[in-house]
Amino acid sequence: MRRLFLLALSLLQAAVGGNASPTHDQAKEAQTVTITAAPSIPSTAPQFVSERSFTSAILNSTNFFRAAHNATPVVYNATLARFAAGYLADNRDCAFDHSGGPYGENLAIGCSDAQGCVDAWGNEGREYDFDDPGFDHDTGHFTQLVWKHTTDVGCGRKLCGESGWFLVCEYYPRGNVIGQFDEEVQRAVNAGGRAAALPFRRSVMLLVFVSISLAL
Ligand SMILES: *[C@@H]1O[C@H](CO)[C@@H](O)[C@H](O)[C@H]1NC(C)=O
Ligand SMILES: *[C@@H]1O[C@H](CO)[C@@H](O)[C@H](O)[C@H]1NC(C)=O
Repeated sequence: MRRLFLLALSLLQAAVGGNASPTHDQAKEAQTVTITAAPSIPSTAPQFVSERSFTSAILNSTNFFRAAHNATPVVYNATLARFAAGYLADNRDCAFDHSGGPYGENLAIGCSDAQGCVDAWGNEGREYDFDDPGFDHDTGHFTQLVWKHTTDVGCGRKLCGESGWFLVCEYYPRGNVIGQFDEEVQRAVNAGGRAAALPFRRSVMLLVFVSISLAL
């Protein structure tokens, strides 16, 4: 039996200039909602259930996209992972919102496995305009993922009933800093190579985009 459910992705953008005072910082929040068809909620997906599989899937997929865009591999950081897990534990009703924490943050809900979530973020790179670098709601997960100065990642996940798995990844130092996209987000090292050829998951049927902005 196939049924419809939502794969929703969300990212956090920091519009923090190098020397800007925090009171002038602005953050924009963007949500991308992908509607997918899947056989069922993968409540037993090994990449979500097993800590070891989870960590290695996140690292492998994240570093796969980073390598393709000339960024050094990130390491898995327990502080960031604890922050993400703590946020999800406090978020009892699984509200699809950002934590408001100090890190870069990508959210996804409804993926079949951890790699699928990171692939969905990474595949936004196909829409990124390297000739006009900057933040865009359609590509913000990708730009955080491959941001060159980000060195650490840590993620948490939680099963949210019918919505499926809710994945939260924290990035440090945070990416998506306005004015730095040109240096921080690089073209595919091997245009036409493996990363460019990475197929979309068969289940992804439609991308719908919703965004809101807010000033902090
Ligand atoms: C590593 O991640 C990439 C991108 O998500 C994926 O294509 C590849 O199959 C993964 N490799 C392993 C060994 O899981
Ligand atoms: C983990 O990330 C935090 C950022 O919150 C950083 O202060 C810390 O140095 C990192 N830990 C390691 C071992 O790099």
